[in-house]
Amino acid sequence: MSQPAYPSLRMRRGRRAPWMREMLAEHRLHPSDFIWPLFVCSGDGCEEPIDALPGVSRWSVNRLGERAREAASAGIPCIALFPNTPGELRSEDAREALNANNLICSAVKAIKDAVPDIGVLTDVALDPYTSHGHDGLVDADGCVVNDDTVKLLVEQALVQCGAGADIVAPSDMMDGRVGAIRAALEDAGHCDTAIMAYAAKYASAFYGPFRDAVGSGGRLKGDKRGYQMNPANSDEALREVALDIAEGADMVMVKPGLPYLDVVQRVRDTFQVPTFAYQVSGEYAMIEHAARAGAGDRDALMMETLLAFKRAGATGVLTYHALDAARLLNG
Ligand code: PBG
Repeated sequence: MSQPAYPSLRMRRGRRAPWMREMLAEHRLHPSDFIWPLFVCSGDGCEEPIDALPGVSRWSVNRLGERAREAASAGIPCIALFPNTPGELRSEDAREALNANNLICSAVKAIKDAVPDIGVLTDVALDPYTSHGHDGLVDADGCVVNDDTVKLLVEQALVQCGAGADIVAPSDMMDGRVGAIRAALEDAGHCDTAIMAYAAKYASAFYGPFRDAVGSGGRLKGDKRGYQMNPANSDEALREVALDIAEGADMVMVKPGLPYLDVVQRVRDTFQVPTFAYQVSGEYAMIEHAARAGAGDRDALMMETLLAFKRAGATGVLTYHALDAARLLNG
């Protein structure tokens, strides 16, 4: 048998011109794919650049309205808020988390006042409020205790809802917290408040810049491997997601993002629930530093990584690049 003179199918026909590539694209990014995390600081009229996250700042509450308007006009549907609690308000028992006038609650109200139609997501975990930097209460042996922590997380979620949060996102990885929060929200009449569970959250080295941004890094005693997942596991992620869905999560999240795209894809394929990925602080920093070092074009690196989340099946992405990426898409 002789070889045919020509290949019967030339895949390059589909790549030959921009219009053809556009027509055949299987996945597309849109500004509505993004949730924009913002850091909040105390003070008046402040912008505090975060050294560990080039291009990202903490904003005082009265500067958040501007950010919300920027996000809304770029088509970003939702903002996620993280407070840098002043040191004197951090304690062993994280009581500031339950203060209805704390930084995060003030931030939620400021955003809702400025732009009522943008979604606001708040993080449920104690690390911005504890003197030891852990997401829960710590016992005498330095171990994070589950059930007492869950009681506090429930109170924290109720306080955030009272301030106007649309989505509460437990990022603490305690067992049973989603069910406990769901039941308490229903009892309190917050039946419209959604839960996005940080369902598969790994004990990752990519959270470093975030911990600087919220001021918990220097305080952290030990590590979070007793509650966050082992990066070696992915079947376990499916069990975590199944539990959180059964307990009432409306949407689930995989975190970090790029190193765990396989998990994003398995979760989406297995459960068909809204599945978000968090492109975390260390991933953001990696792209920014690579671009600054001349290793690649920043915007191209940004868009290629964001598109990868869509290809893996993510419904959307929490990313510090949200505003820049949305503006690029808007042209
Ligand atoms: C804390 C929390 C963390 C992040 C979001 N919520 C850090 C951690 O678990 O130590 C990380 C986000 C990022 O790195 O961008 N509950």
